Amino acid sequence: MVPPASRVAIAILWLSHVFLTARGLVHHYSDFLPPPTSWYNLWLPRPTDDLLLLHIQQPPAQGRYQHSRALSRRRHFGYSRHNGPDAWPLEYPKCNGERQSPINLESDEMYRLVVADRLQWHGYWDRPRNLTLTNNGHTIQVSGNWETAPTISGGPLESEYSFSQLHFHWGSNDKIGSEHTVGNVSFPMEMHLVHYKKAYGSQDEAVKYEDGLAVVSFLFQLSEWPNPGLNAIIPFLDAMVGAELEVTLVRPFPLEILDVSFPSEYVTYLGSLTTPPCSEVVTWIVSSRPLTLSHEQLAKFRYLSSADGELENNFRPVQPTNGRPVFYVT
Ligand SMILES: *[C@@H]1O[C@H](CO)[C@@H](O)[C@H](O)[C@H]1NC(C)=O
Ligand SMILES: *[C@@H]1O[C@H](CO)[C@@H](O)[C@H](O)[C@H]1NC(C)=O
Repeated sequence: MVPPASRVAIAILWLSHVFLTARGLVHHYSDFLPPPTSWYNLWLPRPTDDLLLLHIQQPPAQGRYQHSRALSRRRHFGYSRHNGPDAWPLEYPKCNGERQSPINLESDEMYRLVVADRLQWHGYWDRPRNLTLTNNGHTIQVSGNWETAPTISGGPLESEYSFSQLHFHWGSNDKIGSEHTVGNVSFPMEMHLVHYKKAYGSQDEAVKYEDGLAVVSFLFQLSEWPNPGLNAIIPFLDAMVGAELEVTLVRPFPLEILDVSFPSEYVTYLGSLTTPPCSEVVTWIVSSRPLTLSHEQLAKFRYLSSADGELENNFRPVQPTNGRPVFYVT
């Protein structure tokens, strides 16, 4: 039974949606609808005590540590002056390519794209067998093991893409943090759901092909209410402060508690990974519906660090579009 107050809230949101649609406003990317924050509390589970630490994987012991050090030397990149985005092309020439990401999204410069299919989401309500959160020194990454990994298809995608991992980019203040910008405006956080083309079998194989990856991106806006879905992740961030660690959850959650699936209303363009090696293999799908989080939640991300020091401002600046078409799908 939906409480009466919530029904009034739904009615108001619905009426404003109808009104905005009638005025043609929702079709403009720049006219972000206010996020329906109050909906979250109606149906999303609250974080509960059963999200316990199963184990915390300590950094590898001495012998293996040196090995992984040597490996990570080559993959050493960051966001500070000496190893930041300007330095990436020295070691990763692709980062100087012609179809790099992120980009600034300008509503005036988008083509409206009509696609035959809505974006289809499969298995996002499936609970994984296990779910691992990793502070990998660049970001917080969430990955898991499913009987069958969740997939997306439809929309601009010509085949099925399997979920591989999701991660976040954020900043040290509210004016920065997202990788994509909208009309030159940054958002305080951005989340990327990375998928690889199922036919290629793995992400490692898929990055060798131009149509290898599909990344779904969400921009975050600040709200006075916490995002209950993120509360499934945030309690574990404390365990990962100051160290590059993996945490595996005893009660893994289905990804849809982050409220990710949507059928339409997104920007799509061809780009790259936003971190080295900057491979130009990504079909980007940026939702025009921002998600929300509270200041307190964002503070937990800002408090994280890596072996290098601070783990914030882990976003790449926007890259030239070089005449690439950017599409808006309604
Ligand atoms: C997660 O599940 C996979 C597949 O069942 C298994 O190989 C792996 O060891 C599990 N990881 C942890 C940390 O339990
Ligand atoms: C964003 O910046 C570019 C380059 O400076 C400029 O051409 C464009 O008009 C700006 N867009 C907005 C919405 O201000």
